[in-house]
Amino acid sequence: MRLNAEKRKTNSEFNFSIMYNDVHVGGIGVRLDPFRPHVGEIGFFVDEKYWNRGIASFALKQLEEFITSNLKLNRLEIIAARENKAAQKIAANAGYKKEGILKKMLLVEDHWYDCYLYSKIF
Ligand SMILES: CC(C)(COP(=O)(O)OP(=O)(O)OC[C@H]1O[C@@H](n2cnc3c(N)ncnc32)[C@H](O)[C@@H]1OP(=O)(O)O)[C@@H](O)C(=O)NCCC(=O)NCCS
Repeated sequence: MRLNAEKRKTNSEFNFSIMYNDVHVGGIGVRLDPFRPHVGEIGFFVDEKYWNRGIASFALKQLEEFITSNLKLNRLEIIAARENKAAQKIAANAGYKKEGILKKMLLVEDHWYDCYLYSKIF
């Protein structure tokens, strides 16, 4: 919590809990590029027990409302692993355009993953 407050103060990250029927089921946030402060990368996760109920999609809509009301960004990005069909669907459904592939962008437990780059321009 303290770390999140510090990140907000320095305008570098804005993170939120995702609540569903009063249960904390995930998180969503936007991280501003330190060298290009008009660019924000969105990340999100939802507890597996709650997948496929539209929770992340709804949280993304709410985060975008926060961003357009409070931050001066002209480009939002979502980076989704090639295997991550759900994240790709969420991005496409929300109007993000697939710009290309980022090779070996993500390292998880000694395995490198290629990712798709999605963006929305304001
Ligand atoms: C990605 C993640 C956040 C999705 O959360 P969620 O609350 O289940 O997402 P939603 O229910 O809003 O939307 C999921 C969409 O993906 C679709 N989907 C799910 N699994 C799919 C699959 N295997 N193939 C194709 N589409 C799939 C769903 O049908 C839904 O699309 P629809 O609304 O058009 O029907 C969740 O799976 C997660 O936390 N994953 C691990 C972390 C992660 O990958 N984060 C994203 C990195 S930015």
